[in-house]
Amino acid sequence: MKFSKSSALRGEITVPGDKSISHRSVMFGSISRGTTEITGFLQGADCLSTIACFQKMGIEIENRGDTVLVHGKGLHGLCAPSGILDCGNSGTTTRLISGILAGQNFSSTLTGDASIQKRPMRRIMEPLSMMGAKITSLHQNDCAPLAIEGTALHGIHYQSKVASAQVKSSILLAGLYADGKTSVTEPYLSRNHSELMLRHFGAEVTSEGNTASILPATELYGQKIHVPGDISSATYFIAAALMVPGSEILIKNVGINPTRDGILRVCKAMGADITLLNETAASGEPTADILVRHSPIHGTVIEGAIIPTLIDEIPMIAAMACFAEGETIIRDAQELKVKESNRLDVMVRALTSMGADVTGTDDGMIIRGGRTLHGAMIDSHLDHRIAMTFAVTGLAAEGETTIKDADCVNISYPAFYQDLEKLQQ
Ligand code: S3P
Repeated sequence: MKFSKSSALRGEITVPGDKSISHRSVMFGSISRGTTEITGFLQGADCLSTIACFQKMGIEIENRGDTVLVHGKGLHGLCAPSGILDCGNSGTTTRLISGILAGQNFSSTLTGDASIQKRPMRRIMEPLSMMGAKITSLHQNDCAPLAIEGTALHGIHYQSKVASAQVKSSILLAGLYADGKTSVTEPYLSRNHSELMLRHFGAEVTSEGNTASILPATELYGQKIHVPGDISSATYFIAAALMVPGSEILIKNVGINPTRDGILRVCKAMGADITLLNETAASGEPTADILVRHSPIHGTVIEGAIIPTLIDEIPMIAAMACFAEGETIIRDAQELKVKESNRLDVMVRALTSMGADVTGTDDGMIIRGGRTLHGAMIDSHLDHRIAMTFAVTGLAAEGETTIKDADCVNISYPAFYQDLEKLQQ
């Protein structure tokens, strides 16, 4: 895919459904009794991997496009999978399903693509093993493929070293099947969709500060879920409007849960002209339309508790910071090294190749804005967020930007390039 300097981007857009909430709707619906009706479901490859895994465990799931019906069979209604469970590129599928599988009365094996087979699974293997789970890394490298022998689980209190919703959710899901209360404390609060949604499905979940707790459940019940637009996907249009002069974009119906809205807080701190309209809620998640107008932005410091609330947005923020006046410092973002690609490394190299003034650090980067970027050949490393970041950056750089393996946007936003093009007319 090729991109070159764009005229102003203008118009209205609706981004696809939230990826985290789409995954959870299918997972929680599958282990609930009765039908869960999901509207606004994200038809991205990651969420389709989750559907396929539960279908392999005997759950009937009707995917009708925007609406998905999950005919759940209750907490103990899954059956031994008909083969290896393929989680594709999805860390959320791998880590959350592991928590569910740990407490079943059957054995299973999980794997995924080359990227998934390199991502750290020790972070879930350790707490699940403390609960009594029998989980092994088949290549003994703490990565997938994972073999899980379902067994009786015990409630624990786990102090997590990382602020990770995938780790927290995996433990809470195992906690549904444990013999007592399970709680997880994390260094900073990560996205809380599991806590909110599990409560909605009937589980006894409490949250206090950075600790979430769950009691073993006897049954969960199917729900109607309306999935809001994904703020992580909306980020590319927010950044595009701020990077391309004259732009004005209205992004409709975006989830603005406070554990996900770091991008809005950072844009405001950078001086961006952003307004929230029509604030309301969908299935217990706050939503709003986001109006963003091109405006001059300046550097900022991004660190500490805000990091988990914008973890997937950091690549786009880093590129945006190249167009800001002054210095932007990103700290405490070492988790980016273990995402779909090493996003710290990839961003520093790719931005540098476009002429940006960026220095990588152990846990982030320092970006000095104000240099004119020029087009370059960018390898997406099959990472959807890298591809989308540089499609947008290509619209604000001089000359032509080419993205290698641009198709990987299918993971979270199949129509991304078409939607971006629509705003250029
Ligand atoms: C997710 C949690 C985050 C995020 C990922 C989705 C989730 O990962 O980066 O895209 O749905 O729970 P970590 O929990 O590893 O930080």
